[in-house]
Amino acid sequence: MATDDNKKGTDAISSVMSEKRKFPPPAAFSEKARIGSMEEYETLYKAAAEDPDSYWGGLAEEFHWFKKWDSVLEWDTPYAKWFNGGTTNICYNAVDVHANSWRKNKAAIIWEGEEGEQRVLTYGELHRQVSKFANVLRIAGIKPGDRVAIYMGMVPELVIAVLACARVGAVHNVIFAGFSAHAITERVNDSRAKLIICCDGTRRRGGSINLKNIVDEAIVNTPSVRSVIVLKVTGEEISMHDGMDHWWHDLMGLASDESEPVEVESEHPLFVLYTSGSTGKPKGILHTTAGYMVHAASSFRYVFDIRDDDIYWCTADVGWITGHSYMVYGPLLNGATLLMYEGAPNYPQWDRFWDIINRHKVTILYTAPTAIRAFIRAGDEWVTKHNISSLRLLGTVGEPINPEAWMWYHRVVGQEKCPIVDTWWQTETGGIMVSPLPGATPTKPGTATRPLPGIMADVVQKDGTPCGPNEGGYLVIKKPWPSMLRTIYGDNKRYEETYWSEFHDMYFTGDGARKDEDGYIWIMGRVDDVVNVSGHRLGTSEVESALVSYEAVAEAAVVSRPDDIKGNALVAFVTLKDEYEGDMKLREALRNHVAKEIGPIAKPDEIRWAKGLPKTRSGKIMRRLLRELATSNEIKGDVTTLEDFGVLENLREKEDES
Ligand code: PRX
Repeated sequence: MATDDNKKGTDAISSVMSEKRKFPPPAAFSEKARIGSMEEYETLYKAAAEDPDSYWGGLAEEFHWFKKWDSVLEWDTPYAKWFNGGTTNICYNAVDVHANSWRKNKAAIIWEGEEGEQRVLTYGELHRQVSKFANVLRIAGIKPGDRVAIYMGMVPELVIAVLACARVGAVHNVIFAGFSAHAITERVNDSRAKLIICCDGTRRRGGSINLKNIVDEAIVNTPSVRSVIVLKVTGEEISMHDGMDHWWHDLMGLASDESEPVEVESEHPLFVLYTSGSTGKPKGILHTTAGYMVHAASSFRYVFDIRDDDIYWCTADVGWITGHSYMVYGPLLNGATLLMYEGAPNYPQWDRFWDIINRHKVTILYTAPTAIRAFIRAGDEWVTKHNISSLRLLGTVGEPINPEAWMWYHRVVGQEKCPIVDTWWQTETGGIMVSPLPGATPTKPGTATRPLPGIMADVVQKDGTPCGPNEGGYLVIKKPWPSMLRTIYGDNKRYEETYWSEFHDMYFTGDGARKDEDGYIWIMGRVDDVVNVSGHRLGTSEVESALVSYEAVAEAAVVSRPDDIKGNALVAFVTLKDEYEGDMKLREALRNHVAKEIGPIAKPDEIRWAKGLPKTRSGKIMRRLLRELATSNEIKGDVTTLEDFGVLENLREKEDES
């Protein structure tokens, strides 16, 4: 029989990282910020916790409603109805409201193409284009509730297509333009989309990818699709099929620019976005209109403390949730000016981002740790040769940021004057859940800090009881929030099992975490990435952080393989900065470094040098592949989402071979 202590040994996640550096918000920032101190944050958090209806209801008051709601929340675990009885239109709130105000001639979208082309769409012009395209959708027979798949590169028309869907009450299903024909077929069939909107091609690193050919291949097996609308971007050769394919510009030529937004109910579905689960087919995460609108807009306002003179740049593709909430809806609902860049961060060379920031005087940059680590590897000189002093706030999202990468972002990009908002959230949460408020929260490298007001996030043990300070556990959300997913499209059972079966009446995020003595939440990675080594469960991201904090290391991924004695052994795949060579001496130094940073328990049992790590097209390391390699030295599983197949070859080399 296991004793209590033994049980704790297997169930609790051991957290062994300690980060002592702390950065208060710069006084100049706090003075002007909406929330300028921790006291203000605490007061707001407490008020929202005590009376969530007033808190969320108050935020909802700021929008245009055709009819006001009857109740803020109706909750029948795990199904929510937010602002029930109300009717609104998110496109009206994101576009018309500003086009009808002094912001009519303010830039909504500043677009830069990969070859340096520039386009600016004011709110007035965006309104005209979206209204016209909404009429195109009507001509194509799209009715409220119909699903529309969008498969386009990063051009303003992608945003126009998304907003036009919302305007007519259609449900958009954006499919990232890096996905294959098979992935499109799967997503289109699961959502039974009637229409696909695509481009002829999209530019990438000086070349182009023919998207229309991929759609042609995909729709051989999609019986629900009635038509395809094609935007001309690259002008490359494509085939247009009579009766099925239509040019965007031809249809726009027929459409008037007067279009009434459709009045939809609060819970009217807004979009489906597919995300990978731990196994099986992708999950269609369903978000609905009013609740999503309220949280996407208000979280954007608080976390980025947006001002009318900001130039805000989120580098995410609209094909991901970050692109939905913080490239399109959040900024536009706030009447902000957003920058949209079509291409790759290293095209034509590694200074493209910093060059863009300098030329457009970008004030807020929101990007991902994987990009930051790539920039570190490329070298500081690409950044420092540009004047990026316009920046006032930096953000990160998508995965834990290693403290050393955070420090580099702070020092080299933020020039030690910009607060960093490390924002934790998920496709499922619709909006940011845990994040510093830049004028209030002292930050520590590597933590997303505290939950936003209204978000009851906590770290609990397996039985649902809260963990003590620094005790590793499971990140849960204890109360519904407006932008929560409503279900997995067409699969309520999977929705209930994935998110609501692990803990009683709490949403389970799938992430391991700990709360430190200040109540700051440290994400320890997905629970699937948590390994049990000698009875201690370790977050592999913590070991990765330790490795990356070593001078020679550019990037690291740590996975486990079964081990007879320890239960699991840790295998680290390590990419070195260009000027370093991997050898036995460096391996030993790295092991000792990890032992010093975390403790001997976390020492990788094996270190493999990797020229690159296998990543999905969104930049996430495919740990599943690494686990397979670490265990059997071969890959049997699905690799269709892998960005670069070349990286797999050199990863097979075992430790004793170099
Ligand atoms: O594990 C967490 C990690 O990314 C997961 C959500 O992935 P996705 O749905 O693709 O959405 C990414 C963009 C919101 C989370 O369960 N994650 C996201 N942000 C952070 C993070 N891990 C640590 N720190 C973050 N800031």
